[in-house]
Amino acid sequence: MDRLELILGKGNILTGKTVSERSHHIWILDQPLQARAVVFPQSTQEVSEIMILCKEHHQPIVVHGGMTNMVGSTETQGNELVISMEKMNRILDIDTVSKTVLVEAGVILEHLHQSVELEGLMFPVTYGAKGSAQIGGMIATNAGGLRVFRYGMTRNWVLGLEVVLADGTIISSLKKLVKDNSGLDLKQLFIGSEGTMGIITRAVLKLMVGPKSRNTAVIAVATYSQVVSFLHFMEGTLAGTLTGFELIWKDTYTAMIGVLKGKGVPLPVGYPFYVLVEKSGTEPEKDRETLENVLVKAFEKGLILDGTVARSELEQQLFWRIREDVDHIVAMCTHDQHFDVSLPISQIDVYILEISEKLNLVPEVDRYFVYGHMADGNIHLIVSKTEGSAELKEQVNRIIYSPLPGFGGSISAEHGIGVHKKKYLSYSRSSEEIILMKLLKSTLDPTNLLNPGKIF
Ligand code: LAC
Ligand code: ZN
Repeated sequence: MDRLELILGKGNILTGKTVSERSHHIWILDQPLQARAVVFPQSTQEVSEIMILCKEHHQPIVVHGGMTNMVGSTETQGNELVISMEKMNRILDIDTVSKTVLVEAGVILEHLHQSVELEGLMFPVTYGAKGSAQIGGMIATNAGGLRVFRYGMTRNWVLGLEVVLADGTIISSLKKLVKDNSGLDLKQLFIGSEGTMGIITRAVLKLMVGPKSRNTAVIAVATYSQVVSFLHFMEGTLAGTLTGFELIWKDTYTAMIGVLKGKGVPLPVGYPFYVLVEKSGTEPEKDRETLENVLVKAFEKGLILDGTVARSELEQQLFWRIREDVDHIVAMCTHDQHFDVSLPISQIDVYILEISEKLNLVPEVDRYFVYGHMADGNIHLIVSKTEGSAELKEQVNRIIYSPLPGFGGSISAEHGIGVHKKKYLSYSRSSEEIILMKLLKSTLDPTNLLNPGKIF
């Protein structure tokens, strides 16, 4: 501890009772944090010195960012050291000419959004936890979210990365280049690695000029195949300006609109499918009408049953709240399990029918919700149960995961593997792939110091 204090200075280390006052997740407040200490480095150099010390003492570490992870990747054991990035939270350089931003890993996503917006730019990756999620964690999980089908995952927006390796080596590659084929693209080893391959300390992110307008509609559709036709029609008609396409199944919509408490519900309940559609544009005076006209055509073609376009910014925010405020439906669940599977768009309805039949046969499953980023082939399921036994949890996991290999799907579209899905990795990846992953891990972290026990 003395040497840690020498590196970090007083006030940047927590031990004893102050550790257990913290948590490993922002939504799990009833489990005191288990760790030898929590340290708060303020520079990459300090992170490097911490790792040199940890290597010497065989001290395993877990990095904590915003702790909004969905798969237990920030969970700790009592013998581990937590490195919190919360004091490395500076936005260091917004380059409005190159449209890039240099950030420290602890910058909160929403803070980044607001700061670049003041410069007339946009960082397009966004999701519900933006007010807490930190950029380092977001890169470490390759976070997705609500506009992936238009803008891509976090990976697409990382130009440069600075990482501290398990032995303290600093790999600093903070170029503002979109194109750089000078050898292997090493940053990809760390993006989506859930803290197992290195500690992300800084990043150069790509920015874009944002749209001048956004318009949102809620649409009712009769069948899944018409949802697909509607998606293709919208893509063909709106081209690159279609920026949102979220699908919500009937019963899930009924539950989700509860968040509006009866005020401003866009469409009545009872339709088989609801789609939240967003069009971005550059002509605020005309864009709403454009969207309305396109939707009228879709209606005339028989693709949709009903629809409504938000008439104000406030109404638009309410429409998005239906989908974004997942807490509202989680509150209706007990012993809930959350899923983020992906599969080819053509297979989604067959898959959902198959697993619904199986879930309906389990008496302890009292309800489940289905919705998702359908245009990415990414479906979320929340399964509520009347009891919390490990056997039942396993049974539900198998129902959800076992058909996926047959469909060429994935057990995790965007949340990662962490500890929750570790056991099922082979449903998504071949044994050769897993062997290669482990080989890379043992090469970069031979004594398993970085987030041990996660993914592999
Ligand atoms: C969402 C996050 C939880 O789509 O993936 O709401
Ligand atoms: Zn999602």
